[in-house]
Amino acid sequence: MKRGRLITLEGGEGTGKSTQVRRLASWISGKYEVEVKVTREPGGAPGAEAIRELLIAGATDRWDPGTEALLHVAARREHVLRTIRPALAAGRWVISDRFFDSTRAYQGLAQGAGLEFVDGIGRLAIGTLRPDLTFILDLPIGMGLARAESRGTTNRYERMGEAFHERLRRAFLTIASEEADRIRVVDASGSEDDVAGLLESEVLLRWPIP
Ligand code: TMP
Repeated sequence: MKRGRLITLEGGEGTGKSTQVRRLASWISGKYEVEVKVTREPGGAPGAEAIRELLIAGATDRWDPGTEALLHVAARREHVLRTIRPALAAGRWVISDRFFDSTRAYQGLAQGAGLEFVDGIGRLAIGTLRPDLTFILDLPIGMGLARAESRGTTNRYERMGEAFHERLRRAFLTIASEEADRIRVVDASGSEDDVAGLLESEVLLRWPIP
């Protein structure tokens, strides 16, 4: 059985990731005639979804940034072991709404736990697993936060203030610049169809259909 592929979508708040994950999954399953598993972080496995509740609710200063990174990594370990690895081994393609670049950007750079710290603990969750392709959906923070707020309730991260979200946007762009082979930055300010088209053409470039 040929191993499946792992694609991750990343970005700040309100960038439209979840919609694009769903669209990309249905496009890929039609185009490449493969089974696609859609999943998310924090979450994607029962224990990881329980940890998610601890992370997205409550006061913005509820956790020390290092503790927060450890919680994300604990959730990720469940997700990788119980969901991602089995799906890849069964030949499915996996599309995850966020993965370890979020821990690097949010906790490592924007919250200040440091990249060395998050990369060190991160290995406990992912071992040698790396996404085959990562998209970072990029949007000016005013647009992203307005979209997130228009959804009604805001989670803990959405309440972290503009300076935090500016740091976060820069963090994702820095991370992308250091791994240009794996990571593509996508302008998420266009229409839903425009953004979907950009993702699809990148996937086709990476994996041409014979
Ligand atoms: P979501 O809104 O994309 O579902 O994600 C929930 C929040 O979790 C989001 O605001 C970003 C945050 N997050 C981190 O801070 N670190 C991580 O490692 C992950 C996966 C998510």
